[in-house]
Amino acid sequence: MKPCRIAILGSTGSIGLNTLKVVDQNPGRFRVVALTAYNNFELLEGQIKKYKPSHVAVGPEGLDHFKSSGIKGVKFYPVVDCAEIASLKEVDTVVLAMSGTGALMPFLAAVRAGKTVAPANKEALVIAGDLIMKEARKHQARIIPIDSEQSAIFQCLEGQRSKPVSVHLTASGGPLREVPSKDFKRMTPRDILRHPRWKMGPKITVDSATLMNKGFEVIEAKHLFNLGCDQIKVLVHPEAIIHSMVEFADGSLLAQLGVTDMRLPIQYALTYPDRLPTGLKDLDLAQLGSLNFEKPDLKRFPSLELAFEAGRLAGTMPAVLNAADEEVVEAFLKGKIGFLSIYKVVEKVFLRHRIVKNPSLKEILEADQWAREEAKKIMEPRLRC
Ligand SMILES: NC(=O)c1ccc[n+]([C@@H]2O[C@H](COP(=O)([O-])OP(=O)(O)OC[C@H]3O[C@@H](n4cnc5c(N)ncnc54)[C@H](OP(=O)(O)O)[C@@H]3O)[C@@H](O)[C@H]2O)c1
Repeated sequence: MKPCRIAILGSTGSIGLNTLKVVDQNPGRFRVVALTAYNNFELLEGQIKKYKPSHVAVGPEGLDHFKSSGIKGVKFYPVVDCAEIASLKEVDTVVLAMSGTGALMPFLAAVRAGKTVAPANKEALVIAGDLIMKEARKHQARIIPIDSEQSAIFQCLEGQRSKPVSVHLTASGGPLREVPSKDFKRMTPRDILRHPRWKMGPKITVDSATLMNKGFEVIEAKHLFNLGCDQIKVLVHPEAIIHSMVEFADGSLLAQLGVTDMRLPIQYALTYPDRLPTGLKDLDLAQLGSLNFEKPDLKRFPSLELAFEAGRLAGTMPAVLNAADEEVVEAFLKGKIGFLSIYKVVEKVFLRHRIVKNPSLKEILEADQWAREEAKKIMEPRLRC
């Protein structure tokens, strides 16, 4: 069997590193053709030496560094050219492990080139899901999600002839599930970055604390599985063992269970339709004893409802929600605003936006830019004090 030639966009992040562990776990099955990163060129350099990709994209500092590094046989690209890497003829599968809106153009390029795309990144589908899915259908590109909830739904739908009546996205509840609301205003980035179940990048960890991450997943699922927002339910499940469920007309629920380790959905996406050993420990349900479920508390975590509303309104609203959230979370991580301001600022931008229905790519990018500027304007007085 010929090795699957993969490009890992965002190889230095949490998903990227787990993807490379999956490559190591399956010798001979993959060839790493391309790697990309933004700032962390030192880690990237180690990856280049180990995996010998022929194409690498990196941010400006890294580009300067690699010019004089003496590395041979690698074509270097500026990070803004990740789309070029995603559509290389030498690539079979593109792993979208980069964070943020920057994944949009590579995602579109990959589906237009008919690649198999394994997205962990959710921002691209949130802001331009209609466009991406339309292009994927047109170019017969296969999308096999890595995000664990979407992977679970994908797996539960495998081999089913009937469409689901609903899907149940599970949520661990994030780092604030047991923190009293009165303490939210004191939460620092350090407090928030201690997630009880998943070890992830900083942006998604903050989004898990506000439950905005779950809201983004609602919009992501809507596009990936062609569902209405009202067919998507969110269920808090603190053990994070059931990664999501699918409900059919007869009342049957199918669930996918597994240890909380992203290597599982990553490997499934990369070896699909095969299932191979992961080297992960077995799930010991008897030792676990019980699984718990509760409804999400929308009063404490209003971002989830806001995201549902953005998904229902559609058009440019999800792009606005995502862009405002990206700006505000970055300000929080830099210690410029408090935790409670995250929701307040995002909600203000949401309320000020005039939706464009069925937007073009240009209109989506304009809405994204508008939302960032609006968020910055709203935060300005706070940033000064
Ligand atoms: N982590 C998880 O368990 C998990 C689960 C489900 C979904 N996801 C989604 O997967 C994506 C990646 O998450 P993560 O936790 O792996 O994030 P992360 O640890 O912060 O890693 C982000 C990766 O993207 C690169 N990057 C950052 N900004 C970039 C830009 N402007 N252009 C190109 N590359 C850029 C980073 O490079 P440098 O390291 O050089 O900065 C790094 O390689 C996110 O969309 C997240 O929502 C993550």
